Amino acid sequence: MATPTIAYRKGYYHEVKAGKRYLWCSCGLSKTQPFCDGAHAGTEFLPVLFKAKEDEDVIFCGCKHTGTPPFCDGAHSNLPGGYQNDDPDSPENRAIPTLTPDAGPTLMLDNDCYVFSPTRATMERSGVLAWCPTISPAQGALHQSQFYAEVQVGSAPVISADDRHTVLFVVDGEGEVEIGERRFPVTQKSGLYVRPSEAYRIHNPGPEPMRLFISNGPGSEDLVFLDEMPPTFEAEFPDRRADVDPSQRQAMAERSFQILVNREHGSTMVTQFIGNIPVSKAEPHRHLYEETLIFLRGEGVVWTETRKAEVRAGDVMFLPRKQLHSVQSVSDGGLDVVGIIYPGDNPSINY
Ligand code: FES
Repeated sequence: MATPTIAYRKGYYHEVKAGKRYLWCSCGLSKTQPFCDGAHAGTEFLPVLFKAKEDEDVIFCGCKHTGTPPFCDGAHSNLPGGYQNDDPDSPENRAIPTLTPDAGPTLMLDNDCYVFSPTRATMERSGVLAWCPTISPAQGALHQSQFYAEVQVGSAPVISADDRHTVLFVVDGEGEVEIGERRFPVTQKSGLYVRPSEAYRIHNPGPEPMRLFISNGPGSEDLVFLDEMPPTFEAEFPDRRADVDPSQRQAMAERSFQILVNREHGSTMVTQFIGNIPVSKAEPHRHLYEETLIFLRGEGVVWTETRKAEVRAGDVMFLPRKQLHSVQSVSDGGLDVVGIIYPGDNPSINY
């Protein structure tokens, strides 16, 4: 098999129109990327026809090594030459100021992108549960919301999924999550999925408090509490917990990630992954999905067009769709992150 020419080491963003046909260049030789100009003549490559069913944003593959032609599947990150990094000490990057946190929890970067530090937030309380919103529609999120929660020893109030896909991530502690008539043991770094029709309750046997993040999509301004646990458990989706498993890790050059919760658990809209970023700064890029990053371990710097902010374990970053950004890790051993993307199921697709 001949190897295609790498036209561009990322995806091409394009707004396709319903009913229109697009001929994607598969050889990489076209001068009208990402589309065919006939330059494949005499090679064994043929263009790939795509007919758009609706008006939508897509990312056509630019590297020509995708497994899902004509669209990017993230394969460009593992091309020879590695992941595209950026120099944090370039003259342009040195001119970007670092934001200084004030007393509040939110540090605004460009557009609706921000860093939220739960340690500076005011928590609401109900019984053994304390929580605060970290990402919400009121702060510009269109597709997801997120809450930071602490559960002291005992049983927290029942929380309704409220017709939303809900994904939990346990940062510290261990206990159980009850969904309808089922109970799931969870521990540090467990992910857990709750169906839209269900409700859940967190039980902490102690002695340490549990700390976790609760994400849902579509987003909501607050958690919705119930007096009692309804019996609903959608048994056709029995597998709800996801744990870190090094054998499931996928490489993105020297970076790596593991999908925790996705459609295999029944979550058709929200995808949760855990990843490690070695000391480096990614080339600025964009995604078509809305994303939340939870920083678990290490220290880093997050960059947008004209601002940057330092982040450390416990902080959260919110990225609107199409926001130009870059995450820099500055810690030996790298920066461990958990990402929640909506809508989407592949965190390595970018442009
Ligand atoms: S640009 Fe080819 S897989 Fe992303």
